[in-house]
Amino acid sequence: MVKQVGNVDGVIDALENSRIPVADRGFLYGDSVYEVFRTYHGLPFLFEEHYQRLLNSAALIGMDIKQSRDQILTSIRETVAASKPMLGEDVYVRYQITRGEGPIDLNPDLSESTRMVIIVKAVPKWQQQHYDVGMSLAVTQLRRNSVNSLDPNIKGGNYLNNIMALSEARKNGADDCVMLDAEDLVTECSNSNVWFVLNDTLVAPVAGNLDGLTRRSVVELATGNDLPLAQRPVHRDELVYAQECFVTSATREVMPVKTLRLVDGSMVEFENGGGPLTRMVMSLYAEMLTDFVVHNTESPWF
Ligand SMILES: Cc1ncc(COP(=O)(O)O)c(C=O)c1O
Repeated sequence: MVKQVGNVDGVIDALENSRIPVADRGFLYGDSVYEVFRTYHGLPFLFEEHYQRLLNSAALIGMDIKQSRDQILTSIRETVAASKPMLGEDVYVRYQITRGEGPIDLNPDLSESTRMVIIVKAVPKWQQQHYDVGMSLAVTQLRRNSVNSLDPNIKGGNYLNNIMALSEARKNGADDCVMLDAEDLVTECSNSNVWFVLNDTLVAPVAGNLDGLTRRSVVELATGNDLPLAQRPVHRDELVYAQECFVTSATREVMPVKTLRLVDGSMVEFENGGGPLTRMVMSLYAEMLTDFVVHNTESPWF
């Protein structure tokens, strides 16, 4: 069993013993950026892409990360080693850079050094039913933060917008939320990207969403396999016509959606386990992961 381990600025301990000072800006203000990736057969998937996205998030909030790529990488390796995965056992890695400590003051220039926090644990196990049948989503009244106020491409340590939308969706009996923006365009779920099949075409909504790396992989797979694909704004009025729906994220991979609750409470239902395009994307994604493992076993990373 993978142990849950924390690493705070190089101090590795069981997760329940890991501590940050209360004056940390990540704790006080959500002033931090983070990434989550997982391994397949002990190989980190898309490490470089995640790292580049972390740098982009940091640039978007004007944070100068003091830890080098090598320091981060070495610390992640040490933390994974401390979690003691057995051969072939995979891990979930969350690494977060906070703007460190300073006087209790919003001014970001007052912090001297960024803090690195790493969490390693077992890869989350989603209910098998979510793949065999599908998860349920609800479109919320609560809107996604505007790109002009808190850009969703800042993968930062403040998820209140997502948490509030998720709890609204849960109150409406759904597993997760679909957030709209102020113009009624579909953005994303609480921690995954949402996709639809509309007019027999795979549609990745473009409006106020994080540029998900799983979504990028699916775009590449769809393009490489000549599947009908559009990346465009999706208005909430189109959702009633959706033929299929699924979500993508590093830990959920490609997960089919069984029901979508619209804002007026009406339900759109989809095929068990995903319609034809969803199932095609699920199997292309699984094949891609098998290829990734086969082509990288010679260069184990951890
Ligand atoms: C808000 C949000 N959207 C989308 C995603 C999916 O991104 P990825 O595929 O890179 O995991 C995440 C993942 O953390 C997320 O938090």
